[in-house]
Amino acid sequence: METVSVNLGSRSYPIRIGHGILANFGAAYVDRGLGKSAAIVTNPTVAAHYLEPVRNSLSAAEVQVTVVTMPDGEAYKTLETAGTMCGDLIRAGLDRGSCIVALGGGVVGDTAGFVAATYLRGIDFVQVPTTLEAQVDASVGGKTAVDHPLGKNIIGAFHQPRMVYIDTDTLRSLPRREMAAGMTEVIKHGLIRDPELVACLEEKLEALVDLKVAPEEIDGLIAQNCRIKAGVVEADETEAGLREILNYGHTVGHAIEVVTDYRVYRHGEAVRLGMLAAGKIALDKGFWRGADFQRQNALIRRLGVPEGAEHLNVNRLLERMESDKKARSGVIRFVLPEAIGRAVSCDTVTRCEMGAGIRYMQRYSAEEGQELI
Ligand code: NAD
Ligand code: GLY
Repeated sequence: METVSVNLGSRSYPIRIGHGILANFGAAYVDRGLGKSAAIVTNPTVAAHYLEPVRNSLSAAEVQVTVVTMPDGEAYKTLETAGTMCGDLIRAGLDRGSCIVALGGGVVGDTAGFVAATYLRGIDFVQVPTTLEAQVDASVGGKTAVDHPLGKNIIGAFHQPRMVYIDTDTLRSLPRREMAAGMTEVIKHGLIRDPELVACLEEKLEALVDLKVAPEEIDGLIAQNCRIKAGVVEADETEAGLREILNYGHTVGHAIEVVTDYRVYRHGEAVRLGMLAAGKIALDKGFWRGADFQRQNALIRRLGVPEGAEHLNVNRLLERMESDKKARSGVIRFVLPEAIGRAVSCDTVTRCEMGAGIRYMQRYSAEEGQELI
């Protein structure tokens, strides 16, 4: 088992990564000195696969366990679901010394994390992520939130988990579309921070998405992504500056999720479309070279260009972007790459440049990734 540390003073925590380690979760939980009473928050899809080993390992470690389930899907990452969850916790008698165990993908992790941040003004929580998206991104860094019809992740709090526990074998039951969605964030991490990771993806993207490599290599990939994210979060926990680069592709991506009511694209797919738009803006503004843009787009093509973006209304996307929480005083902020492995945040993108970026993304989507530059 590998451990990546997130060093945040009194809020520091370990990320434990390995394969076939789920049955040892209870022991790791007790080692961290967490509460004698725990609520496992999950959804029916994940519960069918992984609830028993997690529950049994906690019971074997003499932890009293309550199970709380939320419906499956981004459309349920809402205040209403969080409210229902709080009712379940109150009825189960969870107190300040209790701990929430978020077992699932980013939707379960963000919602359970938000409840942990607010229930009794904040209790401990642990992330046990079971999607690639959550293992390489959502479970690390303490951003918790629910969505609103008017904005993605717009109601939330920074609340760091006490531990992240990743069994990469859980990826074996994940549909390929979900693996590809999560791999978008891996590409993102490479593009903003790690040229070697981009080279590795160029060599074996399909084998990684299909898990046709040794389990140790998957563990290593997850660990490398956790290190990248941890490094950024350690430098800027509450997104005063540097952490913004983790939002590459998200300005347009979040707007796409909102205007499609969170029902058409997976989060990673919307971000993939957003990276096409932001990459084009970076090209037009002279931030990066055409050759780098083409390397990004080649990876996106191999992962799959999400279809149907040509039907999105450009003005509605722009409106959403203006009211997104990443905008400050109405100025829309974009993360733009400067080279493979380096990105900056920029607030001087004109409406015209945004429109050109979005229209490029739409043509790319309509033509399934025909090279357009
Ligand atoms: P998700 O949680 O909806 O999971 C995707 C699907 O896979 C769901 O149907 C889920 O039930 C199922 N599933 C989960 N694990 C499985 C497994 N092992 N086997 C089979 N099926 C499984 O989506 P996601 O892509 O994991 O997360 C997306 C969410 O994460 C978005 O809401 C996004 O905003 C959020 N996110 C948050 C952060 C953050 O820093 N907090 C970062 C990135 C993404
Ligand atoms: N996913 C962006 C962040 O954690 O900051």
